Amino acid sequence: MWKPPERIRHPLPPVRWPTAARAASSKLFSPLALGPIELAERTWVPAMVPWRASEDGFVTPEILGWYERFARGRPGALVVEATGIRDIPSGPLLRIGDDRFVPGLAELVRTVRRASGGRTRVLIQVIDFLTIRRRPEPTKYFRRYLEVTDRHRRAVGSDDDLTVRERLLELEESDLERILTERELESLRFGYRERVTDMHLEPIRRLPRVLPELFATAARRAEAAGFDGVELHFAHAYTMASFLSARNTREDGYGGSRGGRVRLPLEVYRAVRDRVGESFAVGCRYLSEDCIRGGTTVEDAAFFGVEFAAAGMDFLSLSRGGKFEDAKQPRIGWAAYPYTGPSGYECMPTAISDERGPFGRNVEPVARIRAAIRAAGHSTPIVVAGGLHGFDQAETILREGGADVLAAARQSLADPDWFLKMRLGRGSEVRRCVYTNYCEGLDQKHKQVTCQLWDREGLDEPGVARTSDGKRRLLAPDWRR
Ligand SMILES: Cc1cc2nc3c(=O)[nH]c(=O)nc-3n(C[C@H](O)[C@H](O)[C@H](O)COP(=O)(O)O)c2cc1C
Ligand code: SF4
Repeated sequence: MWKPPERIRHPLPPVRWPTAARAASSKLFSPLALGPIELAERTWVPAMVPWRASEDGFVTPEILGWYERFARGRPGALVVEATGIRDIPSGPLLRIGDDRFVPGLAELVRTVRRASGGRTRVLIQVIDFLTIRRRPEPTKYFRRYLEVTDRHRRAVGSDDDLTVRERLLELEESDLERILTERELESLRFGYRERVTDMHLEPIRRLPRVLPELFATAARRAEAAGFDGVELHFAHAYTMASFLSARNTREDGYGGSRGGRVRLPLEVYRAVRDRVGESFAVGCRYLSEDCIRGGTTVEDAAFFGVEFAAAGMDFLSLSRGGKFEDAKQPRIGWAAYPYTGPSGYECMPTAISDERGPFGRNVEPVARIRAAIRAAGHSTPIVVAGGLHGFDQAETILREGGADVLAAARQSLADPDWFLKMRLGRGSEVRRCVYTNYCEGLDQKHKQVTCQLWDREGLDEPGVARTSDGKRRLLAPDWRR
């Protein structure tokens, strides 16, 4: 993963944990209405893909175990990982693109309710993503994938496409840089990746016509499975975030100006809202900033936030960065991964950082976005995430009006009981995340996600479920109270 060049190592800041009485009177552990549903407390486990679904996208016993473990820490809300809305193969990522996925998801909901004693509200994040291919071997790229054009024929002086391919294959990088287009070079060096601006492709042109319906049916299935709500994934490197991005130059009314870029997300929201019942919460996750050159700014995000709130969304969860545009070149045979560049760092900052450090980098931008939404007269709850790890930090953010709900991904993975420990006045027993991103490295390699702080602990104890290679435990050890 990319790290800021300053390479300053930030130790974990000291924390003061509350007594049970202090927690009981805190803002963090006070209830909050999220549209039609009520959170018992303002704590939130955001979406985290654990790479534990079946190859065809179904809920597995390992998925149930993962969510059961978080639910035992009884957060106010638990958001199930990014779940694909299309009925297409996508490896061991959860899917909701057909009714056949509903029974497994219903079992997941029941598991969370049981494990949290009914306290945790359970939402599911629904996602669309475009095609991305692995970085090819150059021989494969030139012999199979490249579409030969007149530009190539002229450059190598042949009209025979087989000869053109072979000649291109023999060229130096500097010649290729002259001959290939920017996109062709990218496909060679990173692997082919579709964009929402690829208007020469019929399926991309049609996205505004197909996505509202796909999201709406997915949300309807989520409701049928018993979820309390959906989180529309409008963040990071995926289709909907690319519509919102300032890099979206579509000229069909769904790009360009802020109003054009937010149009499809609003249409998706309205289609979803129309399809589900009134007691079902609908919100979205989007970016406080793209954190790439020419990307969306906090001002854009404030504009979008006001639009989403005015449209009636029940919550807005704000992340930052995590884009493909600045991702590192993958190894041959691997696909680019959106959390490997500077914007990826902004999304999941590590302990090796710049002077600002990894803790709460998203707080100030989110506070500005929330202020704009409040100034426009909307009380939509705002969820903030990114390096949040302590009680005083949380209280300050909530009391100063920076956000309404506190989300912690990695700290919850390090210790799924941490919210409960704080609430019970047992904060000194919290296992604190050290922000090394070992977990994120596993995610990048599509390996079952675990935490370095506990995945080798008690491996030989009876009944400990292990990763497929048998080397790590799959779940955090129990908290023996
Ligand atoms: C292993 C892993 C998987 C993640 N998967 C998702 C995801 O499916 N959807 C999403 O919006 N964010 C995802 N994230 C980002 C987190 O939700 C969160 O925004 C980010 O880790 C920053 O919060 P933190 O500092 O509390 O970890 C993932 C993070 C990790 C570490
Ligand atoms: S592996 Fe564990 S300690 Fe390291 S960043 Fe992930 S959650 Fe935190």
